[in-house]
Amino acid sequence: MITVKNLTKVFEDKKRGRIVAVDNISFEVNRGEIFGLLGLNGAGKTTTLRLLATILKPTSGTASLDGLDVVKSPEKAKAKLGFLTGATGLYARLQAREMIRYFGLLYGMSEADADKRTDELIAIFNLKDFAAVKCDKLSSGNKQKVSIARTMVHDPEVIILDEPTVGLDVITSRAVVNFVNDEKKRGKAIIFSTHVMHEAEKLCDRIGIIHYGKIIAVGTPDELKTITRCNDMDDVFVKLVEDNGNVS
Ligand SMILES: Nc1ncnc2c1ncn2[C@@H]1O[C@H](COP(=O)(O)OP(=O)(O)OP(=O)(O)O)[C@@H](O)[C@H]1O
Ligand SMILES: [Mg+2]
Repeated sequence: MITVKNLTKVFEDKKRGRIVAVDNISFEVNRGEIFGLLGLNGAGKTTTLRLLATILKPTSGTASLDGLDVVKSPEKAKAKLGFLTGATGLYARLQAREMIRYFGLLYGMSEADADKRTDELIAIFNLKDFAAVKCDKLSSGNKQKVSIARTMVHDPEVIILDEPTVGLDVITSRAVVNFVNDEKKRGKAIIFSTHVMHEAEKLCDRIGIIHYGKIIAVGTPDELKTITRCNDMDDVFVKLVEDNGNVS
């Protein structure tokens, strides 16, 4: 469903010079699978996900979503995708409900379908009491829920979430995690990036560890524990990163 082959992104930065943010990575994510992308700050998670979301163009390599090449058919690929990142914005003056519905219309949904799906998402994320609140008056947790809802309004086949639970309280993160699990059961292909190893262990079927732009290990949580001979997922992560040098 999601195929990434030898994907590379080099930034030419005036101050820092040449930065290989994503270095020849390959992986696949199937329908009904949650793939965790884990790495330290600056490891290349967001850049990888932005390449998949057609926001950035790869320097080399390819990626496709449901058979659609992200470089050759970016518009069609994008229509299959729900992408949440830290930069996913909300319009301050729109109410939560209006915000979600508006994106439904942008995705080409009929008014009736957009209404129906908006109500569904408001129920899923327990936003009923806030549906008529303007986005700039929402708490950060509710903003995050509305952001997720607006990226999922067209019921995409491919879901990519860049650190969706960052800064959320335990109940709100659980709502997000439950949503992701439900979407998995519905057969979606999901990438979930985080730097919280325990969260990845609970949620993800397979985990890819990214370090200095390279994928240094891929496997189920149990496989990664076996490879590293560690029981605790934080230890697994630290071991893999240390074995691959240059811990920053
Ligand atoms: N537009 C850009 N121009 C230059 N360098 C960039 C650009 N975007 C990202 N980088 C660099 O690429 C590297 C990877 O960054 P990226 O944002 O992908 O990391 P990340 O794993 O998402 O980190 P974090 O956990 O902090 O979100 C970093 O060195 C970053 O500074
Ligand atoms: Mg990031």
